[in-house]
Amino acid sequence: MKDIVFSGIQPTHQLHIGNYIGALKQWVHIQKEHHCNFCIVDEHAITVPQDPKALRDRILTTAATYLAVGIIPEKTTLFVQSEVPQHTELGWLLMTIAKIGELERMTQFKDKSRKGGAAGAGVGLFGYPALMAADILIYDTTLVPVGDDQLQHVELTRVLARRFNERFGETFVVPNPLIQKVGARIMSLQDPAKKMSKSDTAETATLFLTDTDDSIRKKIMRSVTDSEALVHYDPEKKPAVSNLMTIYHHMTGETMKDIEKKFAGKGYGDFKKDLAEQVIQHMGPLRDKINHYLTDKTELKKILDAGRDTALKNAEAKMKVVRERMGLGR
Ligand code: TYM
Repeated sequence: MKDIVFSGIQPTHQLHIGNYIGALKQWVHIQKEHHCNFCIVDEHAITVPQDPKALRDRILTTAATYLAVGIIPEKTTLFVQSEVPQHTELGWLLMTIAKIGELERMTQFKDKSRKGGAAGAGVGLFGYPALMAADILIYDTTLVPVGDDQLQHVELTRVLARRFNERFGETFVVPNPLIQKVGARIMSLQDPAKKMSKSDTAETATLFLTDTDDSIRKKIMRSVTDSEALVHYDPEKKPAVSNLMTIYHHMTGETMKDIEKKFAGKGYGDFKKDLAEQVIQHMGPLRDKINHYLTDKTELKKILDAGRDTALKNAEAKMKVVRERMGLGR
């Protein structure tokens, strides 16, 4: 049985190696076997203030990144969320069945609204998970490949699907999250207690997919470790080194045991130097491909047009059923 897959990335800031390892790399793998919808979720991006021109540019850069990592447009539906307005329509409908308490419990909302407090946060930021649930449910998605930080949102999606089905009759498929064992949460290079994030203000905390070779070397050489000088995988006791090893594993395919053996008796300096070169070898070509896709915007737009048309057709078919079940319209 083929799965129907949905996942998305917000076109905010540049994408980083956590997005690559936690999400994109899995997508490339899954597309071979299943029906995939990969979306650029620009309406989620605007739940925090964005500069309109920069947002438009980043939508295309994100599309170029999807293609550069190996998403095949002929095999998948690659599209921009705001071009399929049925997502926001269903997002609204789901908000009418979601509960304030459920949304208040979302860690991402709590984190993002921490500065100004919940009362000062935007309503869009609060309703964010309902729109995410709409993204997923509108395509009868069975599988949602994401990093570990999105698990709570996928769980809420399951709750909303079940609630809707109970109230209005069997309508939505209850989707499953797909989260890999190693690499679902890449941590900041400067603070292994914090997840790597696009918006981290610490200059060397985040490895962006567009970083130059020199910048990759600098960030990795300056990354924090511990005082033990032992390349050993133990996320509990050695979170910083284990995080670097996770990146190493994803760049080379080597197991943690292989990596431990390779650097036995060597210091962190040697390990970091090699890690930087592995990241450069893996990410350098990716960076060049992103730029290559960005040079032909007409082709890029053609791909997004085709994705939008497919998504529109599928989303509208589902919405006809949803509107009827809820008694909307005439
Ligand atoms: P976003 O844009 O924050 O992140 C995109 C994807 O990257 C993963 N990710 C990470 N994985 C490992 N380590 C990290 N440090 C790291 N940081 C981010 C995220 O888990 C995600 O898979 N709400 C989503 C976007 C979205 C979505 C959806 C996803 C909207 N609708 C429907 C799936 C299905 C988000 O903010 O992703």
